[in-house]
Amino acid sequence: MLSKLSSALLVGAVALVHAQNPDETPESHPSLTTYKCTTAGGCTAQDTSVVIDWNYHWFHTSDWLSCTTNTGVNSTLCPNTATCAKNCQVQGDSNYTANGVTTSGDSLTMRQFMPGADGYQSVSPRLYLLGPDGNYPQIKLLNQELTFTVDLSTLPCGENGALYLSEMDATGGRNQYNTGGANYGSGYCDAQCPVQTWKNGTLNTSGSGYCCNEMDILEANSRAIAFTPHPCSATDCDRGGCGFNPYALGHQSYYGPGGTVDTNKPFTVVTQFLTNDGTARGTLTQVTRKYIQNGKLIASAVSGGDTITAEGCLASGTSAAFGGLSTMGQALGRGMTLIFAIWNDSSQFMNWLDSNPNGPCSSTEGDPAIILRNHPDTRVIFSNIRWGDIGSTFSTSQNPSSTTRVATTSRAVTTGATTTSKQPTTTGTAAGPTQTHYGQCNGQGWTGPTVCESPWKCTFANDWYSQCL
Ligand SMILES: *[C@@H]1O[C@H](CO)[C@@H](O)[C@H](O)[C@H]1NC(C)=O
Ligand SMILES: *[C@@H]1O[C@H](CO)[C@@H](O)[C@H](O)[C@H]1NC(C)=O
Ligand SMILES: *[C@@H]1O[C@H](CO)[C@@H](O)[C@H](O)[C@H]1NC(C)=O
Ligand SMILES: *[C@@H]1O[C@H](CO)[C@@H](O)[C@H](O)[C@H]1NC(C)=O
Ligand SMILES: *[C@@H]1O[C@H](CO)[C@@H](O)[C@H](O)[C@H]1NC(C)=O
Repeated sequence: MLSKLSSALLVGAVALVHAQNPDETPESHPSLTTYKCTTAGGCTAQDTSVVIDWNYHWFHTSDWLSCTTNTGVNSTLCPNTATCAKNCQVQGDSNYTANGVTTSGDSLTMRQFMPGADGYQSVSPRLYLLGPDGNYPQIKLLNQELTFTVDLSTLPCGENGALYLSEMDATGGRNQYNTGGANYGSGYCDAQCPVQTWKNGTLNTSGSGYCCNEMDILEANSRAIAFTPHPCSATDCDRGGCGFNPYALGHQSYYGPGGTVDTNKPFTVVTQFLTNDGTARGTLTQVTRKYIQNGKLIASAVSGGDTITAEGCLASGTSAAFGGLSTMGQALGRGMTLIFAIWNDSSQFMNWLDSNPNGPCSSTEGDPAIILRNHPDTRVIFSNIRWGDIGSTFSTSQNPSSTTRVATTSRAVTTGATTTSKQPTTTGTAAGPTQTHYGQCNGQGWTGPTVCESPWKCTFANDWYSQCL
């Protein structure tokens, strides 16, 4: 994310579990069924739930005095990690509804604002997927895909409904000072290296930020959409990322109300992480996006596929210093935590996502005050979240590959306001364009080239995907 809500901006109190009293106020988490899929075995429902970020919890003494202040912690109660853990404990039993969060089956609704005594207040929840063991499931997406359905119809300019992955500690940094860990939503990190009062679940006494690899699968509202890898080095991250935004690439009517992807209605988002050798041991070479609406696979915005390639990412400026897709792929191979958020942006009005040249919104209509006035009900609904083998997480009633489209192998990535477009070399023949080594060459819905450059052969993986190997 170019501009991420930092924990310092989030609501109210911060929390640490009392080492002796971790279970005093257990948190009950709204259940959210997710699905793990394989080509051979189909999809299996998983017993997962969501936990709200640590900073939404109240952090207090046994006498119910707050351990936090407007700027951080009370330094008398929390002069250091051990004393703080002795004096203070986390208040569980968060009211998720009051924080704008409801779930039902495999569907999750998140609201930016909730009505209160003094009118609507911003609640802007951020949630993590939680497993039945009280840890964050580590989702491994190398040579895999992630699919979900989203309803962004009520999100106006300036809002951001986000579904993304960060390489957080699976336990939320659970330790002797923080025995609750992931159960209380601790351990947030991302590629903006947020400086937080708590770092990996423990009092931040060093004052350093907490950087980690981040893969933004969806940052979107009803007018604009982007997906963006943000790889990191040991000390910093590719904060801008090498993202894909169809509007910024000149496809201005592809996405939006009444667009090719019609945001007036829910649609399904498929993101595939393809490797050089078609296995989970390989190197990430492309991140490919597909959309399904009304049961039909929608043609891509860019001919040949909406794809971020390794070459495109390295050419895009800031990414190369962090290893581009290769680094991102290593994190996806190790496993990452799934994050859901809805937020607005007081400082930049989300212009980097939806305003010229990235989207059709004016530079001022994303002002949170305008959103609050006109769209107090704004909300995002995520449902049917699945991940697993390429081609195993979705199906369509119609195969649009029967529709004729001129196929080319143009690829492009965007970085903030700048756009770079990379045209790989093709050894075209009279038969039409050919696909490069490792590129996709067939599969249901594929509209790109089906012939590989010599000497590569189009190799069948499954009904959804063949690759030039
Ligand atoms: C910090 O905590 C101490 C001990 O409970 C209390 O006396 C003091 O008023 C608190 N300070 C602030 C700024 O809340
Ligand atoms: C939680 O919040 C909702 C909405 O504000 C409210 O109606 C409900 O009574 C609260 N539940 C509890 C247990 O306080
Ligand atoms: C976070 O905390 C866990 C548990 O204490 C620890 O194993 C891990 O190394 C920590 N990670 C970072 C980046 O500090
Ligand atoms: C965490 O780091 C920030 C940034 O340096 C610093 O202002 C803050 O005081 C630190 N928090 C704690 C509790 O040490
Ligand atoms: C979102 O808007 C609210 C006001 O409605 C504001 O308090 C909050 O800081 C904004 N969030 C961010 C991350 O700018």
